[in-house]
Amino acid sequence: MTRTHTIALASAALAASVAAAGLHAQTPTWTENIAPLMQDKCMNCHRAGEVAPMSLLTYEEVRPWARSIRRMTDERIMPPWHADPQYGEFGNNRRMTQRQIDMIAEWVEAGAPHGPGEWTPPDYPEGWLLGGVLGEPDYVFEMSEPFAVPVGSGDININISVPTTHTEDIWVQAAEVRGNSRVVHHNVVSVRLPDGTPEPTGRLASATPGKQWDLFPDGAAKFIPAGSTMNFSLHYHASNAEEQDVSRVAVWLVRKPITHAVYSSVVADPGLVIPPNDPNYESRGEFVFRQDSEITLMKPHMHYRGKDMRYDLVFPDGRRETILSVPQYDMNWQISYELARPLPVPAGTRLQVVAHFDNSTNNPWNPDPSVQVIWGDDSRDEMMEGWFDYRVALPEPVVPNTVRRVSDQQ
Ligand code: HEC
Repeated sequence: MTRTHTIALASAALAASVAAAGLHAQTPTWTENIAPLMQDKCMNCHRAGEVAPMSLLTYEEVRPWARSIRRMTDERIMPPWHADPQYGEFGNNRRMTQRQIDMIAEWVEAGAPHGPGEWTPPDYPEGWLLGGVLGEPDYVFEMSEPFAVPVGSGDININISVPTTHTEDIWVQAAEVRGNSRVVHHNVVSVRLPDGTPEPTGRLASATPGKQWDLFPDGAAKFIPAGSTMNFSLHYHASNAEEQDVSRVAVWLVRKPITHAVYSSVVADPGLVIPPNDPNYESRGEFVFRQDSEITLMKPHMHYRGKDMRYDLVFPDGRRETILSVPQYDMNWQISYELARPLPVPAGTRLQVVAHFDNSTNNPWNPDPSVQVIWGDDSRDEMMEGWFDYRVALPEPVVPNTVRRVSDQQ
């Protein structure tokens, strides 16, 4: 054996024993640990054209933010995710484990080392986020003319009717909504049938801070007859410069037989009356499933005084189960909690939603604790809405685009 071989073997043995003792693994590095973690938890939002203010794809981009990243992750402000981990299992769970948070802290403490080799960020497709999964959309429906959002205006809530272009009835498995992110706070898209009535299964898709698409679980789809129009329910917020918006929705057709229809529904309490200075006003609502169904996602919605929201099921046999709890609601984020697996609820099950509101001075977001607050679109008014999607099995599978809607509820 030559001398170089002996040295190589000896150093390999040394490296192995160091690694085994956990010494080598101690300081996390960008290329080995942090970049893959941030790809999983941060990069969908922190890149050009997405909701976050800065891109965090490369070491050069991330390095100046290291201290801030440590603080934001340590305080669990980033990534935004507000469900109590005790309840429910979510397919889109962004919550970091304590270990991951500690790893970021250690990395920053150690001076944010780069580590060996290079790390190349993934190739994010331009445009539609779902494009990376589903390919190009089949149809894109957009506003016929731009909406000009004036400088420094307050909030604007407006409904805009958008034409469709498909000539045959379609079933869609996914929809994604986009607009000018500098001014669009949210956009809820629903289908109006050719006779002008709302499509009975509820909203098609929505874009809200922290959510951009609706992807219906395997075998489920939404029906859009030819000749429908899209209703864009848009909320614009003020900006420093005049901005134009042409919002649009892309849809992807189902490619296989459809086994379930998807419904979007809501438990709401439009009668809420929150007294001045009340730190813990309680509001409740209930929905009763009339058919055997499966819940697929939940999305709490309140305004500045919203404090917490919980979703409970009461089964026909009296059994209760909490399926989502958001103990510290943050109105800046409208997060959809997508269940990892559709949750079966037999007919007769009650979905009970309970929420609390803080109309006191303890609430830093409270625009005015001295007023009584009632229901309204404006963020200074309130809403108690526990949105949820569920799906119902069709009597028999539908072959896309040839058979009309078979299942209707309400
Ligand atoms: C769902 C989208 C989303 C995800 C996921 C996300 N962020 Fe953010 N992030 C934002 C937005 C939007 C802001 C701006 C928030 C604001 O101004 O209140 C922000 C702000 C920040 C800031 C503060 C910027 C400043 O101006 O001080 C840091 C640091 C940050 N994010 C780090 C991260 C890290 C690290 C992760 C992953 C562990 C992450 N974010 C995941 C959307 C996201």
